[in-house]
Amino acid sequence: MFDGRISSAPHVHRARAVLDARGMLRNCIKVFEGYRARLGSTFTVHFGGLVPALVTADPVVIKHVLRSNQDNYEKSFIQAERMVEFQGAGVVNIHGEAWKRQRKLLAQGFKPNYLARLLPMHQDVFEELMHNFDGEARRGPVNIRQQMVQFTLRLTGKALYGRSMPTAELERIGAIIHEIQNFVHRQIVQPWMIPWYRINGQSAKYQKLRREGDAIALRHIRARLSEGLSKNDFLRILTETPYHDTGLPMDEPMVMLESLQLLVAGNVTSTNALAWIFYLLARHPKYILEIRDEVASVIGANAMDYRNLHQLEGTVRVIDEALRLYPPFWMIDRIALNDDEVNGIHIPARAMVLPYIYGTHRNPAHWQNVEAFDPGRFESRGPRERHPFAYIPFGGGPRTCLGTNMAVMQMLMIVAAFVRKYDFALVTNEPIDIDPSMMLRPKGVVSMKFRAVA
Ligand code: HEM
Repeated sequence: MFDGRISSAPHVHRARAVLDARGMLRNCIKVFEGYRARLGSTFTVHFGGLVPALVTADPVVIKHVLRSNQDNYEKSFIQAERMVEFQGAGVVNIHGEAWKRQRKLLAQGFKPNYLARLLPMHQDVFEELMHNFDGEARRGPVNIRQQMVQFTLRLTGKALYGRSMPTAELERIGAIIHEIQNFVHRQIVQPWMIPWYRINGQSAKYQKLRREGDAIALRHIRARLSEGLSKNDFLRILTETPYHDTGLPMDEPMVMLESLQLLVAGNVTSTNALAWIFYLLARHPKYILEIRDEVASVIGANAMDYRNLHQLEGTVRVIDEALRLYPPFWMIDRIALNDDEVNGIHIPARAMVLPYIYGTHRNPAHWQNVEAFDPGRFESRGPRERHPFAYIPFGGGPRTCLGTNMAVMQMLMIVAAFVRKYDFALVTNEPIDIDPSMMLRPKGVVSMKFRAVA
């Protein structure tokens, strides 16, 4: 591990970083925002006083790391060791030729024409979810984040496995993902605790949880294969597409691993994105009315499909702005393979570099009125005037989010259906704070009241 100083970037004193370690565990963004206000958009800090990192909210540096010189950067030990321990080695956390091979094969399932065929297959699950939700909403206030866990797991589960997963299993998978992510987060911000976790049985406890999640995924894969695959099953891509080099498809353990990685990647992100979208809409109800009008004029009484969903331009802007203010993936992690130089900053080999998405989206050099919820900033003139890496909720460069198209499709579908059917409001008017662990979640329960309008 690199232990030198990253030159020419302002530095957080090591003693300060040790003192801030507990604060980072509670709310890393709050600590980083303090550093950013004091030191500017790029600074260096030792995580827990031990692991040195260059944190940057500067789109110029981020573009260099994620795109222009991306061959020099790999996902860091956070993904390559900590996540592999619990997720296995798949597209999310491998490198080089092995990653290219895996990504090329999986990408087939995320192309717009494939998703357009997939969407009608979601319809039965979606209707059942809306029906269950309606029952909940009639009984009283609902925890919208918890509801969104069910929506995203079930929709992504259906997309991946071609079958509807039972609620109890989904809740269990959701809980396993949540617990493992919290544990990985603890290891990142308090790295000195890792050997202790191995001794006191914590690591073994979370490995057991991982095996439980694996077993659920495997049951669904085997059940689907025995039921027979349909033409549009994602599982068909995984089980039948041959690799260009061997001519063979993935074996069963790899199918399980990749499908579970996709389920996790899709769930933890979209769930939080949707919870924030509903929170922001409830605080700015004029956009509920605007979206309702837009859905009525674009979709009307027709069924939602891939094409009409993407014509909801105002709704897309609301989603974009929610992802600017609350990007679920609030930072990306990389490690430099060789010495590098960008913007006058020397980055030594083995230094950790963290494109800090939350800070980038609130960098006043690239955004005006950064704290305001203003979807209008995404109107057509905006993006052309902005640096392309000033807005990166889905990352950037070759490792940009593989599931972007699916995520946007699901978010549009859910927001359009809810706004068409309900008026909604927060139970309390208190602003909800952020809770950043591996993902940027709302702190506590986002409790909301829903009243049917149609
Ligand atoms: C709002 C929802 C989502 C957000 C904000 C999001 C964000 C991101 C970001 C920032 C990355 C880049 C990480 C990095 O460079 O280290 C990423 C990667 C990835 N995402 Fe997403 N994601 C979302 C939904 C999804 C969905 C629905 C899926 C699949 C079902 C998915 C699958 C993946 C995969 C497989 C990668 C790794 C790609 C690679 O390394 O080649 N994501 N996501």
